[in-house]
Amino acid sequence: MSARRAALPQLVPRPHTLTPHPGRFPLGPDTALRAGPGAGAAVALLRELFAPVTGGPLDPGAPGGRIVLSSDGDPAELGAEGYALTIGPDSVLLRAARHEGLLHGVQTLRQLLPPAALGAGAGPLPGLSLPCLRITDGPRFAWRGAMLDVARHFQPASYVRRFVDLLALHKLNVLHLHLTDDQGWRIPVPGYPRLTGTGARRRESEGDGTPHGGAYTRAELTGLVDYAARRGVTIVPEIEMPGHTRAALAAYPHLGNRPDVTLEPWTRWGVCENILGVHDEVLDFCRAVLDEVMDVFPGPYVHIGGDECPATEWHASTAARERAAREGLSGPEALHGWFMRTVADHVVARGRHPLGWTGNGAELPGAFTVAAWLDPDHGRTAALRGHDVIMTPHRSTYLDYPQSADPAEPRGQDGGVVDLRGVYDNEPAPPHWEPEATRRILGTQAQLWTEYASTPAQLEYLAFPRLCALADTAWSTHRDWPDFRRRLDHHHDRLAALGVRARPPHRDHDGA
Ligand code: ACM
Repeated sequence: MSARRAALPQLVPRPHTLTPHPGRFPLGPDTALRAGPGAGAAVALLRELFAPVTGGPLDPGAPGGRIVLSSDGDPAELGAEGYALTIGPDSVLLRAARHEGLLHGVQTLRQLLPPAALGAGAGPLPGLSLPCLRITDGPRFAWRGAMLDVARHFQPASYVRRFVDLLALHKLNVLHLHLTDDQGWRIPVPGYPRLTGTGARRRESEGDGTPHGGAYTRAELTGLVDYAARRGVTIVPEIEMPGHTRAALAAYPHLGNRPDVTLEPWTRWGVCENILGVHDEVLDFCRAVLDEVMDVFPGPYVHIGGDECPATEWHASTAARERAAREGLSGPEALHGWFMRTVADHVVARGRHPLGWTGNGAELPGAFTVAAWLDPDHGRTAALRGHDVIMTPHRSTYLDYPQSADPAEPRGQDGGVVDLRGVYDNEPAPPHWEPEATRRILGTQAQLWTEYASTPAQLEYLAFPRLCALADTAWSTHRDWPDFRRRLDHHHDRLAALGVRARPPHRDHDGA
């Protein structure tokens, strides 16, 4: 029993059912790869990932054992993103009801290879084989994501593509790109060239004396959208408003409440008092930005921020107070809800879903899907108010907090520790919640804020292995910490082969 158990494939996230069978399917230069109905894109991805290590072209007519992918499966049986994988000694059959399921199955096949086969430039590996087995699999939640903050520290499109690859490996299907903030604006917008000029570069960060900047071109962003889609990942763009906008105000002071004051992109972290004004030109600006964002990012969701917006400047501004009165609002604080509603109407008019950061959703209209980032119970209250909810509670999904209280741990966000166990124990829809709340929980995602992570190595240290725990929580209904730890031990070898600078397992002092 123990030998058989040791040989069981250790997959992350955990598949719904896995039944091992005797034997192995040999993979080599003469292996054939065939596309059944609707499988073209998944076959292309499998060929891209497998051909270098099998050493053959994976032609449909090759004389060896065959791998067949087909999306003619029954959705009632397999689910929208599910798949069934049968590996026998002579053939591999991967079936799904949809393209997305096939892409997840391709990632499972990838994890069934020896870890060395995942490394870039591994080259042909003689004697490769896959274990015979049957897997039926599908996710618990439709929204399984990670937010990457490219505003605090910019990462080039080439790195974002690698990050997409890492998400796809873990069957995570949403990349939320935080594209703008006080410290930098990263997306070009026609008619507003200074956003990615003045607005994309800051003089220093917290007194370090080192300038930082960067912005994407439109072609890089549309290329990223396409690259991610081919891996089953949807990009959700975020444009922060009306707070967290100082980089835009540095570029265009007339968008603020004090057009006479010249600002620079913020050189500090935290919550900034400079926010957008509420005059018509600002609303026109927001609509122009969102029009470009919706042209570049075709996905259903557009995140429009909404968090941490002090109303100090609105209180001090005659124009803002007059706007509040004209709109029949109780006072300048109420401009926040009015602003979000007004901008969201534009997103809704174009057939998209606005998404916002919120506490309990009270300030946002029902059209908003909300990311509940404070108390997890806010997610429940927001759901009961009728919002769809993404669970993003900071105490278990903010990966910018340090992973332990060890003083040797790299600097992270102040105010807490989020350890691996804490991420794993995040329950996006607790069983004691009302069914009408649970029904509206779309899923969960990790947050990689980057105040303290400027390089890919620092980012990946924060992300891994905690993102593996989040992927397991979002995908599988099965909660079993020792089982997760066992699978993760194997999975670390895959991450190492991929060059991921994960936090080493020996540093975990979390009661494994
Ligand atoms: C947030 O962490 N301010 C959403």
